[in-house]
Amino acid sequence: MSSRYSEAETERFYDEEDAIYRSFWDAEGSLHWGYFDETTDGDFMRASARLDEVMAAKGGIDTSSHVLDLGCGNGNTSLWLAKTYGCRVTGIDLSSVRVNNAREMAAREAEKVQRLLRFEHGSATDLPFDDGEFTHVWSQATIYHVPDKETALQESRRVLKLGGLLVLDDLLKPMPVVSEQSRQYVYDRLLFDTPFSFTGYQDYLKEIGFTIVEAEDLSGYLRQSYQHLGSKARHHARGELEEKLTALNFAYGKMVEAVERDELGWGLYIAQAS
Ligand SMILES: C[S@@+](CC[C@H](N)C(=O)[O-])C[C@H]1O[C@@H](n2cnc3c(N)ncnc32)[C@H](O)[C@@H]1O
Repeated sequence: MSSRYSEAETERFYDEEDAIYRSFWDAEGSLHWGYFDETTDGDFMRASARLDEVMAAKGGIDTSSHVLDLGCGNGNTSLWLAKTYGCRVTGIDLSSVRVNNAREMAAREAEKVQRLLRFEHGSATDLPFDDGEFTHVWSQATIYHVPDKETALQESRRVLKLGGLLVLDDLLKPMPVVSEQSRQYVYDRLLFDTPFSFTGYQDYLKEIGFTIVEAEDLSGYLRQSYQHLGSKARHHARGELEEKLTALNFAYGKMVEAVERDELGWGLYIAQAS
């Protein structure tokens, strides 16, 4: 399915908006939601880091892994994976601004860490990698942006070794039709749409050669994430960013409402290339 949004629009959005997200979401540039389990004490940044830990544990990432970080953004998670597990990580992202940030961040690391990292500018729908090159395709908060999700998921399957793991989280549309409010403040604002519900996602992955190892509905954590992000945006809304952050706080309230109305969801999937 191709959507009415283009990759060029998404690229422009992410090239232009890095500074505003760093101002309140995470100064280091990471941009994903939080996994609020009992270890996180209700703290957003701990929950955001906890998502990385949970995904890495579920994916069994270790020193022998070669991970493709699909939609790596500013490269924060790629760097964390390389430093924590000693694995090789290749990051790819549509935003050249973010890929440059990732490369600059990697260049500040010790030589042995730098050797594990590589960052490429490109799209999830046309991966410049060989068949079976990776043990893991890892993706956080990215596929929902891709207009042609089916091709991105097929490309993920292609570049995975047989038995390799797709470890991803993504936004979901629990119901095929959403209210005008959700359309405007959630789907249109984020330039996305998706054909996938929580179970529909799994059906599609099975159709293209994956076995589902684990699926977890994280919609409650998405709601919690946007409650925290709304108050973070409100707290930082001053000076020249006041108008934009006030608008984001308002939009995040609508994200919370959309999850509560079951018009937006969030899922975590571990799927094996079979
Ligand atoms: C919400 S950010 C998440 C970034 C990163 N994974 C993280 O957790 O911080 C979404 C990222 O997806 C990237 N993106 C969107 N469409 C893409 C595509 N077709 N191919 C590759 N990256 C894409 C954007 O440029 C952006 O960096």
